[in-house]
Order: sequence, then structure tokens, then C-alpha cells
Amino acid sequence: MLFFAFIICVTAITTASSRIGYFWHITDIQYDANYVTATDDYAKNCKQSSDDLELMIAVERRRPTNSRGTLGDYACDSPWSLVKSAVRAMKEKHGDNIEFILWSGDSVSLDVNDASARVVAIQNVTNLLSHTFSSQFVFPVLGHDDPGALLGQRIGYTELGYYWRQWLPTDAIQTFNKGGYYTIEQKSNKLRIIALNSNAFTSYENDEDVNPNEQLAWLERILLKSAKNKETVYLVSHKCPGVNERDPDEAPKFHDKYSSKYLQLIRRYANIIVGQFCGDLHSDTFRIVYDHNKRPVSWMMMSPSLTPSKSPGISNNPGLRLYKFNINSGHILDYTQYYIDLETSTNGSPDDWRVEYNLTQYYGLHEITPRSLHEVAETFQLDNSIQFDRYIEANSVRLHQSRECNLECRRMHYCAVRELDYSRFHSCVETAAEALSVSASPPHCHTLFAAVLLVAIALVHQRQQY
Ligand SMILES: *[C@@H]1O[C@H](CO)[C@@H](O)[C@H](O)[C@H]1NC(C)=O
Ligand SMILES: *[C@@H]1O[C@H](CO)[C@@H](O)[C@H](O)[C@H]1NC(C)=O
Repeated sequence: MLFFAFIICVTAITTASSRIGYFWHITDIQYDANYVTATDDYAKNCKQSSDDLELMIAVERRRPTNSRGTLGDYACDSPWSLVKSAVRAMKEKHGDNIEFILWSGDSVSLDVNDASARVVAIQNVTNLLSHTFSSQFVFPVLGHDDPGALLGQRIGYTELGYYWRQWLPTDAIQTFNKGGYYTIEQKSNKLRIIALNSNAFTSYENDEDVNPNEQLAWLERILLKSAKNKETVYLVSHKCPGVNERDPDEAPKFHDKYSSKYLQLIRRYANIIVGQFCGDLHSDTFRIVYDHNKRPVSWMMMSPSLTPSKSPGISNNPGLRLYKFNINSGHILDYTQYYIDLETSTNGSPDDWRVEYNLTQYYGLHEITPRSLHEVAETFQLDNSIQFDRYIEANSVRLHQSRECNLECRRMHYCAVRELDYSRFHSCVETAAEALSVSASPPHCHTLFAAVLLVAIALVHQRQQY
């Protein structure tokens, strides 16, 4: 009898420790309510700076007709049809078998410039998500283009907090209204989600409205408490520190002092932070945090955007990501990257959203850890790295035109993944440039000649001694 009870207990414990769950990550929707398919109206309502011109020509060339797609266009932000298609695909692919949804900001196109229209757009996306996933929690974070996230747009926090109150408990609403950040504990499994307003770390140091130091002090207190309570933590934000690997000079970036403080906290609490999830770049990429002994201790993953367009002149296919994780430990086991090929898909049915790849299979990983991702990144330095070819194909979500990546481009990706500090990023690009040029060129003829000559002299010299 006791023996059977024991067996049941052991079984219960082992199943409990390996319960598998899923969550979606959707980001940078950039919904543009003014999108129209007729190209005559191009100038009126779709991003069009001179920088975009080259891209537009490429896009025009691809489209046989004189209009933009009903699901969107590589030079424009998301029409409502694309937003609906994505949310419907999320529901159809995995139904209610998900624990929650991360929604990491920049939900309205900058082409919508009326402040109240921007709030209405966010409200409509909120309603779509809450009606589609009526029994799940959505964890929203603010993007730098969302109302209230930055200087001069002060209408935001409390208004958005009001729309999001269905997902945020009272104490979360309180910190949200104060600074756009909050934390929620998944009590059943000791997983804590910390949603940051990382846009504040890119704002001006003397801007008291966003008070980055207060947010960082709050983050530190929460992490300390989590460590004491033996919780594991996900950090979710719109923007992560470091550079945009496709455009390293892009602004805004974290200010150095906030970036160092943030990374210092990541290093100190690396053993409880089991995931960092960001958007903003519109690309599919990742980052590694190293400790002072150059050991990889933490990772960040950037999901590609829903919008196909990023000014100036960078595009991607729309993406959606489904994470698979251990519910009890929070550890990420895998993810499935879904995408829709805007060039060939027209009706936006869930079948048009295809699996692009699964992380573990794509890179041949047995587990997802800072070390295993570090090893993937190390191959980026090698000539003919299959891993890098795969990475670069995924980077723009299989948008062929962006796939070519020369040596300089490869260095930028390699260094962006490894160095989150700007000065270290720049020196990495320089060092990698030397290393790559040495390894890429065959030994020079005169070096070979000198070597042969030296050996010959040595041999002659040896002969003479006998
Ligand atoms: C938001 O939804 C309302 C109600 O469905 C609709 O009338 C309005 O046009 C929508 N606005 C935007 C910007 O999507
Ligand atoms: C990739 O992940 C999806 C979703 O979890 C799963 O249905 C599919 O079987 C996986 N594919 C492979 C090849 O592992």
C-alpha cells in the first residue's frame, strides 16, 4: 500500500516538474488604419521618405499589379486585415492551449499622427485580443511609439492602464500608471513576469517625467525579492539594450549609464532570470550577456514584428512566435517561428501562416541556454557557417531581398549579438574585421617564400656543422 502511494507520489512529482506550456509573443503591430491598396494614394498615407525609395522600387517590381496587397505591403505598416489575420492564426494554431500572451508594444503606425486616433487604434487591438483570448492573460508593454511612453505624450499611462485593467491586477495598475511598468506573479508556478517601460532608458537624463532611476531601483527591489522567494523571472520589454544589428547607428538607444546598470542587474540575477523578451528591431535575432569572466550567463530574444516595414528602407515578412516552456521552472524549451509570405499570400487565412522554423531543430540545439546560444553565435565568425546562413535567412523572416550579407554585415551581426555595450560593440567590429580578413585571405606568397628560404638556410647550416 505504502509502496503504491510512493509510486504515485513520484509520478506526480516527475510530471509536475516537466509540465509543458506555451505562450505567444506578438510585437510591433504598427497598425495603420489609413492603409489603402490603391497606389495612387501612396504619398497620402504610407511612409515614404527618400530613403524608402530604393526599397519601394524593389517592391513595385515584385508586384505585377498597380496596387498594394490586401494584407499589406513591404513599404507600409499593418492594415487591419493583417492584424486580424495574425490574431486569428494564433487562435487556430494553438487554440486555448496557451498560458498567456506577451505583447511588446509599438502597436500603432507612426503614420497615424492624431493622438486620440492612436489611442483608439490601441483600444481596438486590445479588444481584438481580449475577445479572441477571453480566458487568457495578455501582458502588454509600452513601445516608444505608444501613447504615453515618451516625453510630450502624457495622455498615455492612465488611459492605457484603464483599457488593460482586465489583465492587470490593482498593484500592477498602480506602477503602470506611475511609470508604464509592472510585475505579475504566476502564483501556481513561481514564475514572475516583469514588464518594463524600457523606453524610459533611452530618454533624456534630465527628463523627470519618465524617471528611469526610479524604475531601475524598483526592478532591483523586485529581483531581490524574487531571489529570496526562489522565483524565476521573465523580463519583457519593447527595447533591449545594445545596437540594432541591421542598423547599428539607429536611435534611440539606452543611455550608457542605464545600459550599464541594467546589465549589472542581469549579471547579478542571471540565475533567476530565465528569459528576456523584446521586440522593436522588427528582426529575428538574439543577444548574449557575459559575466566579467566572459562566461555566457543570460540571453535575450527579439521576435520579429508583425508590421512588414521599418523605416528607413528595411523590411521583413510578418512574424508570430510561439514559445514552449516548462511551466514549473519557466525554462524555455523551444519556440516555433510562424510567418506569412506577403509576396504570395493574399487572403490571410490561418493556413497562410506557416512554420518558418523551430529553434532547437534549426540550430541543432539540445537545450536553450546562454552557452548553447553563445556556441551558435561563435560559428558566425567562420566562413561557410551553415548556422549563420540560417540565422541571416531568419533575420528578415525570409524576405529574400535582405538576405545578402557580406563580411562587414556578418561582423555587425556577430558583434551585436555578443556586445551590448556600445564601445565594446565598436571595438568588436574592428577586431573582428582584422580576424576575418586574416582568416579569409590565403597566406601571402612572400611569407611562404621567406619560410622556405629560412628552412633551406637552416638545413645548409646544419650540414655545415657535420
Ligand atoms: C475601432 O473600432 C470601432 C468599432 O468597431 C470602429 O468603428 C473604428 O473604425 C475602429 N477604429 C480604428 C482606428 O481601427
Ligand atoms: C515545431 O513546433 C511545432 C509547434 O510546437 C510542432 O507542431 C512541430 O511538430 C515542430 N516541428 C518539428 C519539425 O519539430
